[in-house]
Amino acid sequence: MLKQGGLHIPSRILMGPGPSDVAPAVLQAMSNPLLGHLDPAFLAIMNEIMEQLRLVFVTENQLTMPMSGTGSAGMETAFVNTLEPGDVIVIGVNGVFGQRMVDVAERCGATVVRVDATWGEAIQPEQIQAALQQQAKVKAVAIVQAETSTGVWQPLAEISRLAHDHDALFIVDSVTALGGIPVDVDANQIDVCYSGTQKCISAPPGLAPVTFNQRAVSVFQHRKVKVQSWYLDLNMIQSYWGSERLYHHTAPISMNYALHEALSAILREGLDQCHQRHALLGKALQTGLVAMGVGMQVEEAIRLPQLTAAIIPEGVNDLAVRKQLLEEFGIEIGGGLGVLKGKIWRVGLMGHSCQQKNVLTFLAAMANILKRQGCKIDAGAAIDAAMAVSSGV
Ligand SMILES: Cc1ncc(COP(=O)(O)O)c(C=O)c1O
Repeated sequence: MLKQGGLHIPSRILMGPGPSDVAPAVLQAMSNPLLGHLDPAFLAIMNEIMEQLRLVFVTENQLTMPMSGTGSAGMETAFVNTLEPGDVIVIGVNGVFGQRMVDVAERCGATVVRVDATWGEAIQPEQIQAALQQQAKVKAVAIVQAETSTGVWQPLAEISRLAHDHDALFIVDSVTALGGIPVDVDANQIDVCYSGTQKCISAPPGLAPVTFNQRAVSVFQHRKVKVQSWYLDLNMIQSYWGSERLYHHTAPISMNYALHEALSAILREGLDQCHQRHALLGKALQTGLVAMGVGMQVEEAIRLPQLTAAIIPEGVNDLAVRKQLLEEFGIEIGGGLGVLKGKIWRVGLMGHSCQQKNVLTFLAAMANILKRQGCKIDAGAAIDAAMAVSSGV
């Protein structure tokens, strides 16, 4: 029988691949009274969000705003607006989200040229160059900056240059990157960039910030066929977020309150300081795990700080460890996906979850659980190592 009496949400520390913890001020922002989606007071909030997003994406792009939907809606927005049937797109695939890009681009009727790398490694510019050289005309090159399924930090500058040398748009997935590591849309000459609210921005899942430069805007303004998706058609959505204020769909009002508050928090901290916090605490977590005898899947030069892929030690039961972490310590982490299923744990330190006390609590909990699974673990060494890196945060 259906139990009455409201929700009972257990207490958790969200250290998985997303969503991350949300600060109390962001939750409180959501409990404000609703405004109508054309109320001047709400329109002013929308303007501020666009301004805040420009600061966080580090761009001057006029078309910078949150789409209604999770990060995947941002991905679809990027592809449905720029791709027409028959267009050729080169996509880097070194994990689940590169694969998802392929699926979305194919649904747009595009011809996808896949550039694959081993999961846990970066896509090399030479691979992109080789793919571009084999095509007469390429509409876009797309890549994931922070591959959440592997923990790889994909360098962008060289691939951006190659895309532009071939007159292609450069599309970047910054769902796990934005707020955690520099995305620098204008400096990296990214034509289309999309993100999500539920990772390092630390608002609940439900909005997908996107930014398109003038070159990309002109692409969807001059399409031969209509954008396949009515809901994500920027030609229409722009008229609501821009000066015309034409109704398209009802904006998710409370989610926008949350995003405003979450972006305010990042800007109050300072974007650079926010990146430094992620860098330092990510390093502390990784140093602590290594000190405990747990290996890293990704080499240090391309390892994300906000998402650590830790190799599951021989003989350890993946599911049992994650269950104990959740049930005994209230800590959520993620398992591996695809070829890395059962081989790695994915430990997130994103946004409001990225705090020293969470690093230390997680290391102590993991050490305790691994000991009980028969591993020889020096918990003290792990904590000392993490403290040495992160003291002063
Ligand atoms: C890199 C990347 N892209 C896209 C997505 C899709 O975002 P969502 O699950 O919010 O739709 C995710 C989610 O984990 C992601 O990590």
